[in-house]
Amino acid sequence: MTADRQPHPLAAGLLPANWDEGTPDPGRLAPEHAAHVGELQRAGADLAAFFARAANGLAAAADLPELDERHTTLLGRERGHVTLALGDLPHVPLEERKRLGRAYNLAKRWLGELEAAQRRALEQEREARGAGMLDVTLPGRRPWVGHRHVLAQIREELLDLFHGLGYSVYTSPEVEHEAYNFGKLNFPPDHPARDAHDTYFVSDTRLLRTHTSPGWVRAMEERRPPLRLVFPGRVYRAEQVDASHMDQFHQVDGLFVARDVSMADLKGTLNTFARSILGAGVRTRMIPIYFPFVEPGAQLDASCVNCAGEGRTRGPDGERRCAVCKGSGWLELLGAGMVHPNVFRAVGYDPEEVTGFAFGMGLERIAMVRHGIPEIRLFLENDMRFLSQF
Ligand code: DAH
Repeated sequence: MTADRQPHPLAAGLLPANWDEGTPDPGRLAPEHAAHVGELQRAGADLAAFFARAANGLAAAADLPELDERHTTLLGRERGHVTLALGDLPHVPLEERKRLGRAYNLAKRWLGELEAAQRRALEQEREARGAGMLDVTLPGRRPWVGHRHVLAQIREELLDLFHGLGYSVYTSPEVEHEAYNFGKLNFPPDHPARDAHDTYFVSDTRLLRTHTSPGWVRAMEERRPPLRLVFPGRVYRAEQVDASHMDQFHQVDGLFVARDVSMADLKGTLNTFARSILGAGVRTRMIPIYFPFVEPGAQLDASCVNCAGEGRTRGPDGERRCAVCKGSGWLELLGAGMVHPNVFRAVGYDPEEVTGFAFGMGLERIAMVRHGIPEIRLFLENDMRFLSQF
């Protein structure tokens, strides 16, 4: 600290006299302006005069560049008068320092507020002026266009693929008879297989369908074999909602009924599907699993897209269990199987004459596996930050 150094004094003379010209009205920007001047007056007439002229200058700034320039003169980080005065406070004799420091800080805050208010006023003025004008030289504004929801994209892709394999689309009701959702699909009335299909009943015998498989029954009752159909649609279940369960989701079933359809045909079809959706390098496996409407029933798994089936991933902090497949190397894709003879009987087909395979998949599940989406609820939330990624 040097004793001979003169602290930067704040006085009106530092500022151009023309800042006072015209009739600037800082009170328009800050109703308490007069009281502020009064308060600074108690710290010194020079300071009060400086503040009054500074405020006038801000209020009279004619446009944003002028306002910027005046703001820099007053509060600029390096050479602003108020900044310099504050920086020199250590050179002010101790007995005055506290009083002056408080006054400078008040002046700084109030000038900052005036500047912000004048900025808003100028911006509004500019907008109001621009609103009535048409600048024909501006490039056109491209209208915002949306795109298909990620599930709709996957559905279209799947329907396209199966169309190529000779399948046509069959749609059936979302409010379904119990007989179609369960009975004719060979779910006995009190069978535990119904537990996984808890749903919402709209009457004693009508319910929100729990899968798209009832579509096969309707199609087979209406038509004679051979049949090659896909059944896309929304399904419902009374689920406790969590990261992988929702009470509504989407499925696509497929059904192929003819003479001598075999499990090998099913396997070939499912492998074609898996390679098309997950890439040519994907490996698959079928494991036995129970569904009432097929025999044998199978689950199709694909090698994990995250770890390429290894069950482990390597990162900067070493090797760890793959978080996507939980270390198994496999991801469950869908259910499938050979249509159960009881289902053929229920629709009036002769199981000695025809055979068939069927498969059913959840669209959300396929999308999650394909894109590594960890949370099923994202599909329904309509958050653009999620949807615009696909
Ligand atoms: N409908 C079954 C479900 O939602 C899935 C399913 C399994 C469909 C096997 C099929 C199939 O077509 O053959 O749990």
